[in-house]
Amino acid sequence: MKRVAVIGAGAMGSGIGQVAAMAGHEVILFDAFPNAIIKARDAILQSLKKLAEKGKITDQEAKTVFGRIYFVDQLHSIEGSDLVIEAIVEIEEEKKKLFSLIEPLLKETAILASNTSSLSITGLANGLKHPERFIGIHFFNPPVLMKLVEIIPALQTSEDVTNKVKQEITSWGKTTVLAKDTPGFIVNRIARPFYGEALRMAEEQIATPAMIDTAVKRLGGFKMGPFELMDFIGNDINEAVTRSVWTAMHFDSRYRPSQLQVNMIRAGWYGRKSGRGYYDYKTPAEESSEPLTDEHTFLFNRILIMLINEATDALYYGIASREDIDMAMTLGVNYPKGLLKWADETGIEECVRQIDALYYLYKEERYRCSVLLRKMAETKKTFYV
Ligand code: NAI
Repeated sequence: MKRVAVIGAGAMGSGIGQVAAMAGHEVILFDAFPNAIIKARDAILQSLKKLAEKGKITDQEAKTVFGRIYFVDQLHSIEGSDLVIEAIVEIEEEKKKLFSLIEPLLKETAILASNTSSLSITGLANGLKHPERFIGIHFFNPPVLMKLVEIIPALQTSEDVTNKVKQEITSWGKTTVLAKDTPGFIVNRIARPFYGEALRMAEEQIATPAMIDTAVKRLGGFKMGPFELMDFIGNDINEAVTRSVWTAMHFDSRYRPSQLQVNMIRAGWYGRKSGRGYYDYKTPAEESSEPLTDEHTFLFNRILIMLINEATDALYYGIASREDIDMAMTLGVNYPKGLLKWADETGIEECVRQIDALYYLYKEERYRCSVLLRKMAETKKTFYV
């Protein structure tokens, strides 16, 4: 592949364009709004300058990379591209309308991809003249720094296209994982309990956000606790992802949005960006030095077991391979360890005991044990040898 076109020059599109140019491609970066193109130009220049300052690339390389990117405001400029990646607003009708304009401009061998994080790739492919060459390529934010890319074939995608894309994105220096076209793909699905179970415990007044964050960081080795991370992402954004997965999963109670989080949004307490979330960012917070107790262990275990259960179910439903599930969570959201590896270390029977204890207490479907986990416990199997 020589020429790569990226449609939508926002936060994701400009980053993806830069990554492709850094991998040696000629990049056509298109946006329908002139202001967005100006902003993208500045953002890419700044990013390349920073990389050069840090010694990651030379000044000359930065110049060469920048020179490979063409900022355009005419869609027909993408003609002759080998790969087109769409990264416009997350609205299905907008994306489909755009694809109908793009398809006639594509040569026969070109591949068309979407960077959508919540829409069905199979649904987006439907309506195309050649759905077999359509695929999901899901980068993480910011694309230049984040190593992980989820590759999501639609039901209609040809195997040849999947293989080509996997090979291509790997050659851009990224680690690719293959995901089935299901809500949230790998990372955004398996990560849900990290937030959801923490919110549930806070809602039940089992512990304060600060206490839960302390437990997760100090016992689990996570860089940020769930509440710190929600404040960082923004409660509005985080809740929207949860709601989208919950809706797409036909309102499965495991993904149910939290009333506590909804109220935070109503109050305008989005997190860092609004100066207040679960924490107050106008006054610098002090790192807790409280001694760890059995209570902290309970809080952390409850979140971990729900994550392990979710990861196991993803494997059971063939969303991704064992290795890809573990890789996705360590590279996509910086988990200190793969969840399936963590399950082995915890002991599969112990995992089942913990989730069954929650089910016994609540009698809610939310706490049902993954069939695979139970079967493994019965047959004394582990995920890795
Ligand atoms: P953004 O709002 O920063 O950028 C979207 C860009 O698309 C804007 O520059 C806008 O002018 C342009 N645009 C809108 N409609 C257009 C059209 N019809 N034709 C051409 N350009 C158009 O959004 P962001 O965050 O870059 O997201 C883009 C896509 O990437 C979405 O599908 C989103 O779900 C996905 N994504 C976002 C991530 C994130 O963390 N922001 C992570 C992974 C995927």
